[in-house]
Amino acid sequence: MKKVLILSSSPRKKGNSQLLCEQFQRGAEAAGHTVTLVRLAEKKIGFCRACDGCMRNGGTCVFRDDMGPILEQFRQADVVVLATPVYFYGISAQMKAWIDRTYPIWQSLGHKEVYYIVSAGLGADVIARSLGDLDGFVEHLDRPEIRGRLYAADVMDAGLVRDQPIFQQAYEMGRGV
Ligand SMILES: Cc1cc2nc3c(=O)[nH]c(=O)nc-3n(C[C@H](O)[C@H](O)[C@H](O)COP(=O)(O)O)c2cc1C
Repeated sequence: MKKVLILSSSPRKKGNSQLLCEQFQRGAEAAGHTVTLVRLAEKKIGFCRACDGCMRNGGTCVFRDDMGPILEQFRQADVVVLATPVYFYGISAQMKAWIDRTYPIWQSLGHKEVYYIVSAGLGADVIARSLGDLDGFVEHLDRPEIRGRLYAADVMDAGLVRDQPIFQQAYEMGRGV
């Protein structure tokens, strides 16, 4: 059985990407995996200050906020789900702040099975051109392996994914972990 860490970065509690994360979680739990879902917007995660303190002290950030425990969960995870809304043709600020704060361990991120869950008000082409920051992070993993991409397009209002096939697909994707 695998350890699954879902990083959900929409500030909307009933947002489309959040709902898909919950579906993924249900599916993965039904398959017997251990799942932790973290809502980044509700955590205290300061911006990386680029002080390089972590580079000098062997990998400990100078901040004592919520990132430490999340980074430990990340280290232990076999599977990581990166979930974000598209904001201005990019990822959410919450997700970008999280990625930057992995800097203390960027040279030893380890191997993970990765899934993307992305929601956008406009079309799928918008999503495809918006994920450079996620890809840039994943490239630093050991043997990067993107196992699945779930793109919810044309969902401007929170909750719209509930009425779409992608809602069930998220469950199946989780179950397939
Ligand atoms: C600040 C902001 C910027 C956005 N920029 C885009 C965008 O560039 N392209 C797009 O298709 N949708 C954009 N949207 C719409 C969201 O991507 C859409 O509402 C999405 O479903 C939000 O995901 P969530 O429901 O998981 O929060 C933006 C929304 C906000 C609040």
